[in-house]
Amino acid sequence: NLTHVILTGGVGSRLWPLSRKTLPKQYLELFDGESLFEKTVNRNQVISNKIIVVGNIENYKMSNAIMSKFNKSFTHIIEAVPRNTAAAIAFAAFASKPEDILLITPSDHVIEGNDIYGAALEQAIILANQDYLVTFGIKPTKPETGYGYIEFEHENVIAFHEKPDFETATAYLQNGNYFWNSGLFCFKAGKFLEELEKQEPEVYWASKAVWERNQDGFLNYELSLNIPSISIDYAVMERSKDIKVVPGHFEWSDLGSFESVYDYLVQKGHPIDENRNIAIGTSLHTTFIGVKNCILIYTADALMVLQKENSQEVKQVYQHLESIA
Ligand code: GDD
Ligand code: MG
Repeated sequence: NLTHVILTGGVGSRLWPLSRKTLPKQYLELFDGESLFEKTVNRNQVISNKIIVVGNIENYKMSNAIMSKFNKSFTHIIEAVPRNTAAAIAFAAFASKPEDILLITPSDHVIEGNDIYGAALEQAIILANQDYLVTFGIKPTKPETGYGYIEFEHENVIAFHEKPDFETATAYLQNGNYFWNSGLFCFKAGKFLEELEKQEPEVYWASKAVWERNQDGFLNYELSLNIPSISIDYAVMERSKDIKVVPGHFEWSDLGSFESVYDYLVQKGHPIDENRNIAIGTSLHTTFIGVKNCILIYTADALMVLQKENSQEVKQVYQHLESIA
């Protein structure tokens, strides 16, 4: 009785202009002609017998179109307004039986190595059955500040640190006893709700009130505004004592920024010039002169050139465009 909970709330604003509100990155058929959303469903098909998709109304149709390709029953929870992952996961837990094991996954990550992935899941399910909140740890390769860090000793978690600053992340990397949090979680629905009630009661009670008033999975807008917007990482993972970690030796990328898209594409053999510049989205002959580590992004209605290291700033561009739209 494993339920696969797919979170599809994000816009992927750090990947503008490739990704946007009308077509977030999880629905782009960027990789082998298949969207990351579809790959996510596929990857977890064998192991789950139920699927819950939690997302917004804009994403609803796109998710539906993909889900209709699979011969699987699924439930949709449609948020009226995003209230972050603690609440999004709470809705899925309220929609389940307390003993149901939930596997929470984003819909926009790249994961390769299905056998190793499957083995990690099996290990996680065993721990989840013992009433632990299970995380999947990835061996870090750089002091990325956009991730959560899991301080571990074997499968025990000493502490969970969400998005440390650069100095702290650098120290974690040198220490060696830290994993990146992959953003996948596995636990009993009831155990998660119990911990949420304990650690962040406001989110628990406000989400419960919203869920109790749902109409066929559609959530009420006004009531949703009462839910504090906080991620599962800050709300529960940093505070709970009952966390375990399963090392994820599978290939993982959250493609969260153009820097990680760049790393991923280059590793996959995407053309790159002698100054490590790349062009994405065009077969036009592209020449870079006098610049290094640049990314050109070409789409039908927008063009962007950026220094790879400045990838996090794309979000501000997106926000600015939204504010003047
Ligand atoms: N349905 C729904 N509603 N989904 C949401 C919402 C929401 O309100 N907010 C976020 N999501 C989805 C996003 O679309 C994404 O798939 C996932 O939940 C995680 O949210 P992000 O906003 O991408 O989180 P993050 O990247 O800052 O950090 C998380 O992921 C990292 C790995 O990618 C944390 O879990 C970090 O600890 C982790 O390292
Ligand atoms: Mg993310």
